[in-house]
Amino acid sequence: MLSPFLVHDKNLYLERYPTYQVNRSLQAWDAADEYLVNYLSEQALLNSKLTILVFNDNFGALSLNLTEHRVFAISDSFISHQGLKHNAEQNHLSLDEVKLLSSLDKLPAEPDLVLYKIPKSNSLLKEQLAQLRQVVSANTIFIAADKAKNIQSSTLKVFASYLGTTTTSLAVKKARLVFCQLDNKVQAANEQQFSQTKHWLLEQNSLDITNYANVFARDKLDIGARVFIDHLPTLSADSSKKIIDLGCGNGVIGLSVLNTAPQCQIHFVDESYMAVQSAKENVEHNFPDSFKHCQFSVDDCLTNIEENNVDIVLCNPPFHQQNATTDHIAWQMFNDSFKVLKKGGELRIVGNRQLGYHIKLKRIFGNCKLIASNKKFVILSAIKR
Ligand SMILES: C[S@@+](CC[C@H](N)C(=O)[O-])C[C@H]1O[C@@H](n2cnc3c(N)ncnc32)[C@H](O)[C@@H]1O
Repeated sequence: MLSPFLVHDKNLYLERYPTYQVNRSLQAWDAADEYLVNYLSEQALLNSKLTILVFNDNFGALSLNLTEHRVFAISDSFISHQGLKHNAEQNHLSLDEVKLLSSLDKLPAEPDLVLYKIPKSNSLLKEQLAQLRQVVSANTIFIAADKAKNIQSSTLKVFASYLGTTTTSLAVKKARLVFCQLDNKVQAANEQQFSQTKHWLLEQNSLDITNYANVFARDKLDIGARVFIDHLPTLSADSSKKIIDLGCGNGVIGLSVLNTAPQCQIHFVDESYMAVQSAKENVEHNFPDSFKHCQFSVDDCLTNIEENNVDIVLCNPPFHQQNATTDHIAWQMFNDSFKVLKKGGELRIVGNRQLGYHIKLKRIFGNCKLIASNKKFVILSAIKR
């Protein structure tokens, strides 16, 4: 839905990205964005040109309100960055002064203002606040925002322990602001200084798995992935097939293929910068000889992948985008897989059995075979004929 984001003198028309989403009633901005933008204006905080860090701006509602300043838009989501660019174009706004940074990029020093949309992942919150601590000064103004129901006392404790004295605003339209005084008096406990990157052992094949803060199944193997790993296509040890691990997360699916067929050319693709980096490090560490014939890309599904060129796509699809439950990503992943597969190529997926993925696969591929199932999951295969 093209939703008018009208605050004071700026009228922005914003869309969620990708723009074809099935649930067209979802907005591209929320009450917390509105509250933040209003607050900046009411408090006259934008009267001179500032260096502003904007964290986790979903589709540009914050950054695109600030294009006359020097803005750094930091996100772990490639899709959010694409959404921001798309909405800038729609609104004829120049991005000359807006720099897009991934969650792995170095932050600019001594920003004047930090606008922080609180992420869903607590580990990403801690990781980003730890990074911020390194670059803010006592003069930096820090304001976070979210739906009031998501701001628990435990969340405020995290802000206080990483940044300094923390207070909150009254709730407006069920959103709340969080203010931190960056007085440098806080001495974060040693454990909080540690990076939120986690390591665990993939039992099925004893692989050492590294997970950056925002990676899906960062703490342990996903139950769907566990079933999937037991029902991957059978490959000979000397197979060199071209395979895509779509929505790779930490790369456990592709890594499990390399464990039996180390010469396969696997392309690990995800929309999370931290996921792709995790997968890259996991292949380099566990299969250094395979690393040179594997590829790693951030992408929105398979938008930038060559057509008719791949033997197998493996996928454990997501079923939400940011906080919204949706099946549009799975639908796009299956359509994109059809496009990139060679004739005779296979898409194999795992899915919660209630999601009815077999209907989508039959519609796109004209066929769908049940490979295995248990009470919760199905493993499905579709061939491009
Ligand atoms: C259910 S997780 C699966 C992760 C991993 N393959 C596993 O089995 O543990 C789905 C993954 O899809 C990624 N994802 C979500 N939307 C995407 C998109 N539009 N394009 C590419 N990847 C996406 C998420 O970041 C997440 O890592």
